[in-house]
Amino acid sequence: MLVSTVLPLLFALAVPSLADFTHHVVLKDDVYFLSWKFDNETITFETQVRTTGYIGLGFSPNGGMTGADIVIGWVKDGTAYLKDRYATAEQVPSIDESQDVELISGSENSTFTTLRFKRRLDTCDSKDNKITQSTMRIIWAYHDSDPLTETDLLYHGNVNRGAKSMFLLEPADNPVNTVTIPNDAYTMDFINNKVQVPSTSDTTYWCSGFTLPNFSGIHHMIKAEPIVQAGNEAIVHHFIVYACNHQFNFTDHANYSRDCTGRGNMPPDLELCQQMLMAWAVGGEVQVYPENVGFPFGGEGDPTFVLLETHYDNPALRNDYVDSSGVRFTLIPRRRQYDAGIMSVGVSVTTNHVIPPYYDEFYSWGQCSDCMQSALENVPEGINVLAVGLHTHLAGTAIYLRQFRDGVELPYIAYDESYDFNYQEGRYFKEPKRILPNDALVTQCKYKSSDRTAVTWGGLGTRQEMCLSFLYYYPRVNMSGCQSANLQSEMIKIAPQLTPSSNNHGYSVIIQAPSQYAGRRFTDVMENLVNWQDDKTRVRFQALEMNSTRVQFCQGINGYGHVSLIQKLQISAPYKLPQASCPSTTTHTPTTPTTSTTPVTIGSISSADRTVSVTMATVLCGLFTLLSRM
Ligand SMILES: *[C@@H]1O[C@H](CO)[C@@H](O)[C@H](O)[C@H]1NC(C)=O
Ligand SMILES: *[C@@H]1O[C@H](CO)[C@@H](O)[C@H](O)[C@H]1NC(C)=O
Ligand SMILES: *[C@@H]1O[C@H](CO)[C@@H](O)[C@H](O)[C@H]1NC(C)=O
Ligand SMILES: *[C@@H]1O[C@H](CO)[C@@H](O)[C@H](O)[C@H]1NC(C)=O
Ligand SMILES: *[C@@H]1O[C@H](CO)[C@@H](O)[C@H](O)[C@H]1NC(C)=O
Ligand SMILES: *[C@@H]1O[C@H](CO)[C@@H](O)[C@H](O)[C@H]1NC(C)=O
Ligand SMILES: *[C@@H]1O[C@H](CO)[C@@H](O)[C@H](O)[C@H]1NC(C)=O
Repeated sequence: MLVSTVLPLLFALAVPSLADFTHHVVLKDDVYFLSWKFDNETITFETQVRTTGYIGLGFSPNGGMTGADIVIGWVKDGTAYLKDRYATAEQVPSIDESQDVELISGSENSTFTTLRFKRRLDTCDSKDNKITQSTMRIIWAYHDSDPLTETDLLYHGNVNRGAKSMFLLEPADNPVNTVTIPNDAYTMDFINNKVQVPSTSDTTYWCSGFTLPNFSGIHHMIKAEPIVQAGNEAIVHHFIVYACNHQFNFTDHANYSRDCTGRGNMPPDLELCQQMLMAWAVGGEVQVYPENVGFPFGGEGDPTFVLLETHYDNPALRNDYVDSSGVRFTLIPRRRQYDAGIMSVGVSVTTNHVIPPYYDEFYSWGQCSDCMQSALENVPEGINVLAVGLHTHLAGTAIYLRQFRDGVELPYIAYDESYDFNYQEGRYFKEPKRILPNDALVTQCKYKSSDRTAVTWGGLGTRQEMCLSFLYYYPRVNMSGCQSANLQSEMIKIAPQLTPSSNNHGYSVIIQAPSQYAGRRFTDVMENLVNWQDDKTRVRFQALEMNSTRVQFCQGINGYGHVSLIQKLQISAPYKLPQASCPSTTTHTPTTPTTSTTPVTIGSISSADRTVSVTMATVLCGLFTLLSRM
């Protein structure tokens, strides 16, 4: 039955072999179709292209040809040809001495050429690129003619080629692909009201407020999707929908629509809206919950108001953009088995997140330990993570969401070793990943700042930095954020000749002595009084960043939270990504400089007298004041 209903559809799409594959993408409309499937060790591709000439498909480190691992093939007089190649420049890719691609089949008719081939995910050949869970930059090209000889390929030109970032190894049956929307579902849109996009700054965060209707009973949100106004794709960079769960007078903010960059001018009521309902960024797609889970509305403590934050990226400072983009939620008028929640884990977005210049690799460490323990106190079976969004900005090259249990590291919940800022999408898991109450999580980011000459600060702008993971999970617990920040009082030790004032938990550090530096602030010291070109200074600062005491922020779903001092986790057994057993190649080096042989003391120490309880608003105010001083 199933077969008879599916096959006609496939033929209608003119892609007869589709059914053999789990993944499909159209690389060029009506022209270049790519299908693939994979297991533990191998990946099989099929390229079907509207040409009778040659076809190229490659894996590139950056989207360009240089450094790319490329397969080129064609069909001539009924015979298929295919070679494993590599490119060291923008020229005809060389034939690889080690041929690691196996041609399975090839065919051609008057309009299409189809090639099917397979390779190992890790071929052990240094001229090939590994295929991993990281973002893969696929490059593709084709030409109308077959080459005369194997080295005589004609240039494909500027039009018949392209690049696309993708997660090739995403499980095939994630909820996005398998969940059906019930008949009683309805939609609710949150759309910006003709926002005149500011032309005075390249980065604008715009916030629009929406009062939610009175739900009668609990409704579950089961899907969230972006609606980008046609023509504004280039400037609409991300949406975050924040929920407000606290009580306030909505009438004051009913049609709130304002530039909220830095959030300095935001009414305190709205500043407390911190729970992320949806995070979508350029390249991302639709967010869907599995069949037994939904995000609750209409119950005690559920959102009553939402704030849509739109990040506009307008580097050309054009003044003629008017935008009515936004998001659409799909809801059902009832509750599924579990309420979902969303939490952010990583480094607090403040000027305590410092990325000095001149590093080929600099790591930031955002630790969530004590907070997790208290948030999961009443959920001994733990929580289930459905999907994760990994987020850094332009200097980020890799990001890891790490999980620790009793000093031993479990496999990464998610990671990306070739992060692409322009491709941010949730990573859905085949099976939810479990977090137990005593587990600790760390979002660790790797940055490259060797092309920068000034300090990069944590901040909301694209050219500032972030290091956050967003976890979509169930059942919901009382935590929307679990982030840590290095103390200024610790980081300032990079300049031992300076004596800072005693300070409030490491914020607002000001120099007291020697007198010629008295009154200078932390940011000023980092920017102007440290010689980052000195190798030893950079090594010392990385150690300070990694090892010193930091402050942890636990934020409840009502926007309030508490703050405590924590120590760096001690790790007895760090996780290492599995490696293919390659004959005599160099082993993959651990991804972090954090290996420690000291005995296990999982968790962290925070004595009661060093713990303060403040509202998150106070903390945020303090931090944003800092930000706005910059
Ligand atoms: C050529 O092959 C393609 C793909 O296999 C198919 O969709 C198309 O109908 C074929 N065209 C002809 C003329 O047979
Ligand atoms: C995948 O790996 C697991 C264990 O790592 C093994 O049991 C299984 O047979 C492998 N499957 C394939 C298709 O290689
Ligand atoms: C929701 O109901 C309350 C009381 O039942 C009422 O005061 C309020 O105005 C209603 N809000 C909306 C948006 O209809
Ligand atoms: C809410 O704010 C509006 C407008 O500022 C005001 O008229 C109204 O009285 C306020 N309601 C309450 C309950 O404070
Ligand atoms: C908000 O906008 C709606 C629709 O445009 C309008 O009816 C309402 O009066 C506005 N509310 C306020 C407080 O301005
Ligand atoms: C501090 O961090 C570095 C890595 O940056 C590590 O090699 C070193 O062992 C750490 N020192 C301590 C005392 O933990
Ligand atoms: C959730 O946590 C916050 C901050 O820790 C706290 O203020 C709030 O009372 C908690 N809410 C519940 C329902 O436990």
